[in-house]
Parts: sequence; structure tokens; C-alpha cells
Amino acid sequence: MAIERIVDTSNHTEDFEEAEIEVTLRPQSFAEYVGQERLKRNLQLSIEAAKMRGEPIDHVLLYGPPGLGKTTMATVIANEMGKSIRVTAGPAIERAGDLASILTNLADGDILFIDEIHRLSRTVEEVLYSAMEDFKLDIVIGKGPAARSVRLDLPKFTVIGATTRTGSLAAPLRDRFGHIYRLEFYTPDDVAKIITRSASILASNMEPEAADMLSTRARLTPRIANRLLKRVRDYADVNGDGIIDVITTTKALEMLEIDELGLDPADRQLLNSIINNYGANPVGLNTIAALTGDEATTIEDFYEPYLLQLGFIERTPRGRRVTHRAYKHLGKTPPSVEE
Ligand SMILES: Nc1ncnc2c1ncn2[C@@H]1O[C@H](COP(=O)(O)OP(=O)(O)OP(=O)(O)O)[C@@H](O)[C@H]1O
Ligand SMILES: [Mg+2]
Repeated sequence: MAIERIVDTSNHTEDFEEAEIEVTLRPQSFAEYVGQERLKRNLQLSIEAAKMRGEPIDHVLLYGPPGLGKTTMATVIANEMGKSIRVTAGPAIERAGDLASILTNLADGDILFIDEIHRLSRTVEEVLYSAMEDFKLDIVIGKGPAARSVRLDLPKFTVIGATTRTGSLAAPLRDRFGHIYRLEFYTPDDVAKIITRSASILASNMEPEAADMLSTRARLTPRIANRLLKRVRDYADVNGDGIIDVITTTKALEMLEIDELGLDPADRQLLNSIINNYGANPVGLNTIAALTGDEATTIEDFYEPYLLQLGFIERTPRGRRVTHRAYKHLGKTPPSVEE
């Protein structure tokens, strides 16, 4: 495992330059945030109404595959509300006391962004949802017979939670969110807009045809679009005159072994090993993980969403199944009867 994947959608990067570029390219307002029109329309309305009433907006839960713009949307909401955002993540809040200190340090109207909110512990989760409900915090002071419970008033804050999997969120917590939105894959047109915007921020000379070409190779995902742009830009700088046209883009993608649909060698290997071992029969997630040497959650969060979107695999009650479409893409003959 651990081959570096250009199409890896995770943001757990050690690459400093890349992390910096991701921040530079991050949209700051609704106007800059491309696509996700339904989400933007609804949130814009709520923000406007909340501002008129001088209240914070309802808690927002954003879910969907990595790299589609959840963190970005949280910062946009804070900017549009004109409020500060405090960023944390599920695994970082270990004890109820950690959460209490975060909550008591918020100001009225502040946004608390909790990434990977599905990874909060049960006890922390319970404290959080009661705080979200009535902006009160019950804490126990002291131990043993002397222990007493006190109730603190909290500022009126907004939680924005982000998760790749809503399934693993406890129902009582989920129910505290007034807005629950799934982020969708972007259309190639939107991806092309994002690439063009990024190229201009990075002061790259990119031809529109090249942006169109990249837009279909980026797994309909902004993070990958920006990453590919960066790689193609490197290629154009080193092997050409810095101009990103269709020819340099084609060559760079060939070098990266990314095919017309944006699949990389690891995706093709995953599909091929299922086909070689199980054909078009259903196979369990853990079996797939064993075949590729990845964690089951990695398969579920990083590989699967785009392969499902392409219709290359299907979820059945008995497991995942490779479709005829995937066989054709890989240049293989599908089995004659698909069960
Ligand atoms: N709608 C958008 N328009 C333009 N750029 C976008 C958009 N959404 C995301 N991006 C770009 O993609 C990058 C990744 O987005 P972001 O970090 O918000 O994804 P995420 O959904 O939070 O991912 P993860 O689940 O890994 O935390 C951002 O740095 C930003 O530049
Ligand atoms: Mg994020």
C-alpha cells in the first residue's frame, strides 16, 4: 500500500506546498464557490434571514465524499455571516472537558466547524447535542459526595459539521442539525470553471481546451482538479514553455497514467483484481480491502464514491459487484450473463 496517488482525495498531505496552494485556491464567498447550486441557494436564504433577525443560522451538517468542498463551504458561511470560525475535528476533542473549553470560549454568533464529526466519542457527542439544543452546558464540578452539577449559559453559536459518512452519526446528534446537505460531484463544466479560476490565481497560462480536457479527468472533484492542474503546470514548465495546452496536458496525464475517465493505476488494479478473482459476482468490502491491501474505510471513502458515480461498481445486498461498463472500459469481455 501507500503508493502516492495523484487522485487521492484525502487532504492528509505532508506536502507543505500543496497545503499552501489549497488554501490560496479556496473560495471565500458564495460568488467564488462554483456549483452546488441547491446548497448555495438554501444557505444564502437562511443567512440573509438570520442576519435580518440578528441571530445565528441553524446548525449545518455537510456530508459527501472527500475533496468536494465541505471545509470550503464552512469558511464561506462564516465569511458571509461576517463571523469568526473556530476549526476543530472529531478525533481532536477527546474529553467532554475539551469541548467545554472550546464552547465557553466562543463569542455570540461564532461558527464552530467540526470536521470528521462522526468520529466524536459518545460522551462528547452527548454534551455537544445538548449544547446545540439550548445553548447550555451542564458540567460536574468536584468528585464523590462533594460533586455538584452546574449549568452554564453558552453564547449562541452555530455548529457546522462535516463528514464523509452520515450513516455513522448518532441519530440524536443528526437531529440537532437544521440543515443537512449532501455535496454532489461536480459537472465537468463546473470543474472546468474551477480549473480556469485556479489557473488564473496561480498565474498559469492555460488554454481553454486544456481546461476542458482536465475537467473530465479530475473525478468530478475540485481537490483533484487543483492537484492535476499543479502537476500539469509543473510538466509544462519543465518540458515546454510553461503554456498549458492540450498537447502538454495529454502528455502529463499519460505520464501520470490517468486515463480518459480519471482512473489511476490503483483504481484499475482494484477493478482488475475483483474481476480476476470474482468476475462479476458480488464481493464483500473486506474482501476488496484484502485484495488491494487498503483499509475497508479507505475503499469506501476514497475509491468507491467515484466508481459508483461512473457506474463501474454496484452495491448489492450481497456485496459490491463490477459492472459490464467497467469490463468494457478496461478492454475486457464481460461475462455473457449478468446475474
Ligand atoms: N465549489 C468550489 N469551487 C471552487 N473550488 C473548490 C470548491 N470546492 C472545493 N474547492 C477547492 O477544492 C479544495 C478542497 O476542498 P475542501 O477542502 O473544502 O474539501 P472537503 O470536502 O472539506 O474535503 P475533506 O472531506 O477531505 O475534508 C479546496 O482547497 C478548494 O480550493
Ligand atoms: Mg475538509
